[in-house]
Amino acid sequence: MNLGEIETYGEPGAVVYLSDCVDLMRLMPPESIDAVFADPPYRLSTGGVTVKSGEVASVHKGDWDRSLGSFEKDHEWNLRWLREARRVLKPSGTLWVSGTHHIIFSLGFALQSLGFKIINSIVWEKPDPPPNALRTAFTHAHETLLWASKGKGARHTFNYDLVNSPNPGGQVSSVWRIRSVPRKEKLHGYHPTQKPLRLVRRALLASTREGDLVFDPFCGSGTTGVAAKELGRFFVGAELEKEFCELAARRVRAASRGGMLKNIPGVRAGG
Ligand SMILES: C[S@@+](CC[C@H](N)C(=O)[O-])C[C@H]1O[C@@H](n2cnc3c(N)ncnc32)[C@H](O)[C@@H]1O
Repeated sequence: MNLGEIETYGEPGAVVYLSDCVDLMRLMPPESIDAVFADPPYRLSTGGVTVKSGEVASVHKGDWDRSLGSFEKDHEWNLRWLREARRVLKPSGTLWVSGTHHIIFSLGFALQSLGFKIINSIVWEKPDPPPNALRTAFTHAHETLLWASKGKGARHTFNYDLVNSPNPGGQVSSVWRIRSVPRKEKLHGYHPTQKPLRLVRRALLASTREGDLVFDPFCGSGTTGVAAKELGRFFVGAELEKEFCELAARRVRAASRGGMLKNIPGVRAGG
């Protein structure tokens, strides 16, 4: 199998491969990617409950979100895909990975075991979380994003001036308060775990340059592809489900290349 034999979606400069991400990365040249943004399965679909539109509902995001059988197997898998991601990242490249407490500790340990250096642990605070359905715990109101470089003196990109206001007292902190996905970002179809564009955009604006190549191993509805295109970056994604490849392609095609570059203040701290 080579890259040319895999079914692709999207357009030149923003391509989604219908593929398992590890299989795809194994076909990619080493040190070819400037940044990875990964939103992997959180292994949440274990028969638990949540609240949806005021009703108690079971948590089932999709079969792809089930545990592989044990914490050890889930951790092994995290090591597997992160090892390949490290291989395809340029020495100056960085990797973003999101998670809840279900997997974030495994991801952090895997990153450190593989030699990555964690630059920031970002708290994505959600102002509008669903209530705790069973009233047995505090409301889960955040996710974590780990931002890591390849370590060993790697010099990573951080566009300080683009993400911060000129006022030194107003530096953007590691707590990002960002609302969940607005309706206008769902016009092209449904994905159960779509991320808000504002979140991914801030990560990419901070850590990549115009013309850089961004890879998302778990592309889903294509949020990373849309953010990359709007910021004038190039994009490659991997996605297992054809339906989501098609959704990602619709979203990417509708995005305007470089459209957000005219509007940088709109992606700053409060924007
Ligand atoms: C958490 S979702 C990502 C959502 C995405 N960030 C968005 O904004 O739409 C994870 C996605 O990864 C896909 N997936 C799961 N395992 C995969 C694998 N081994 N290779 C590629 N894609 C995978 C799932 O089908 C799902 O769409």
